[in-house]
Amino acid sequence: MENKEKVKKLIDLRVQAKLGGGQKRIDSQHSKGKYTARERIEMLLDEGSFEELDMFVTHRCVNFGLEKEKYLGDGVVIGHGTIEGRSVYVFAQDFTVFGGSLSETMALKICKVMDLAMKMGAPVIGINDSGGARIQEGVTALAGYAEIFERNILASGVVPQISAIFGPCAGGAVYSPALTDFILMTEENSYMFVTGPKVVKSVTNETISTEDLGGARIHASKSGVAHFRSANEQECIATIRELISYIPQNNLEEAPICECTDPINRLEDELNSIIPDNPNMPYDMKRVINCITDNGQFLEVHADYAKNIVVGFARFNGVSTGIIANQPAFLAGVLDCDASRKAARFIRFCDAFNIPILTLVDVPGFLPGSGQEYAGIITHGAKLMFAYGEATVPKVTVTLRKSYGGAHCVMSSKQLRGDFNYAWPTAEIAVMGAAGAIEVLEGRTIAKMENPDEKAQYINEKTNEYKDKFANPYMAASYGYIDDVIEPRNTRFRVIRAFQALQTKKLTNPLKKHSNIPL
Ligand code: HXC
Repeated sequence: MENKEKVKKLIDLRVQAKLGGGQKRIDSQHSKGKYTARERIEMLLDEGSFEELDMFVTHRCVNFGLEKEKYLGDGVVIGHGTIEGRSVYVFAQDFTVFGGSLSETMALKICKVMDLAMKMGAPVIGINDSGGARIQEGVTALAGYAEIFERNILASGVVPQISAIFGPCAGGAVYSPALTDFILMTEENSYMFVTGPKVVKSVTNETISTEDLGGARIHASKSGVAHFRSANEQECIATIRELISYIPQNNLEEAPICECTDPINRLEDELNSIIPDNPNMPYDMKRVINCITDNGQFLEVHADYAKNIVVGFARFNGVSTGIIANQPAFLAGVLDCDASRKAARFIRFCDAFNIPILTLVDVPGFLPGSGQEYAGIITHGAKLMFAYGEATVPKVTVTLRKSYGGAHCVMSSKQLRGDFNYAWPTAEIAVMGAAGAIEVLEGRTIAKMENPDEKAQYINEKTNEYKDKFANPYMAASYGYIDDVIEPRNTRFRVIRAFQALQTKKLTNPLKKHSNIPL
């Protein structure tokens, strides 16, 4: 073969590889409203930055006549490229090749790109669209999954791992995304479950649709498996790019600092009156967040799950920061099992990747009742406490209103190594609310009172006495548990100054193999 022909052969092979399982299957993919693996990667990465690897890999299976059916690339496209100029490693399963099912060689390709990401210290983004283990391969496909799982585990806390689900992701295959830091799903075509509707029906006799069992809505709001839900693939890819902008390349680096065009000393008068006079009235904590962050921007994580706590990324003077905030507008901002798990996981991500943490507190306590106790609120609440107490990144806490009991201790209190703990003058830091306290302290006296007017007056007097003494930030400030009481409208400036002062913070935990977080 002449050299010219050799070059032509290469070009032909590349064209062939780019067709994956063939034009007919690409058309079928498009007809379902789905993009192909390469189209997805193109949308995700900076234009022209993608370097594909292992394009000529084919499977080695000789069962069921598969040796006669080979496709260049074998069901997954891998490589590296950039997002806003920063390196990322990607793999995208190609549904046009055996339904994106995982073969031994496909697993080797995914492992290769994960190993490179670890070596280079760069994020891994996986796009999942697969029928699961390649049935014709059997056990080698299972081994392939386990090889990927192990790499997910070892990469956890070293490089960020992001999983987009753009098609089926079922059976044991769900565990690779589950081991990563963030899962994103789309409204249509995206589903995850350990066992599909047919198996569910045969085992439990429950009739349930694919969407209701494992669609984006369910995982974003009920199970909490998905961190983001998007209307379509483009929107989802835009969210991945935005997410990447807030996080560092690896655990030894800091997140990129953006130029800040928003004045750091911007006063927000609205905040001076945002807390209602009636302590039982709600307000929207997200409004507070929008008032204090750079340009009011906030990338909310788990927006539809456990809405009584809000978590997400924002910037203060251009520095990426994780925000954890109780949400009085939903279940009065109470801490329950789901909210505790949601916030704990987010805090641990921030701490693993050197992202400072701002906590905004307005919490009436832990949700009481047998439902929560049976669901393990003790263990889940402990997760949140553990995550805060273990975190060594800069931690700034602002208490806006209620901060009662165990929930006070948990929410980044001074004693859990909060670096700067501020409070608004509206803060109420106490063991419990006034009504509950009076019931406990004065219950016996009140029970003995026969005259209703006298009883009401007594309760009122005692409640006011308790409120004057405890329903404020000054008792905590007198002990130094609160470093300063700040004017609400100046919160942005005080938070930025606090984080600036913490830039040189150095804190390490005692040496150990690993901690034993209450799982
Ligand atoms: C081999 C597969 C495949 C698989 C799909 N295909 N799944 N080939 N192994 N697991 C092939 C189909 O034969 C078809 O080939 C092409 O991919 C597209 O599949 P369709 O069924 O036509 O597509 P669709 O109607 O969209 O349905 C998609 C699907 C369905 C829901 C994913 O294909 C399906 O149920 N597949 C099997 C799922 C499954 O049971 N997987 C094993 C799970 S166990 P042609 O040639 O027609 O294009 C598992 C264990 C992992 O994964 C354990 C890890 C620890």
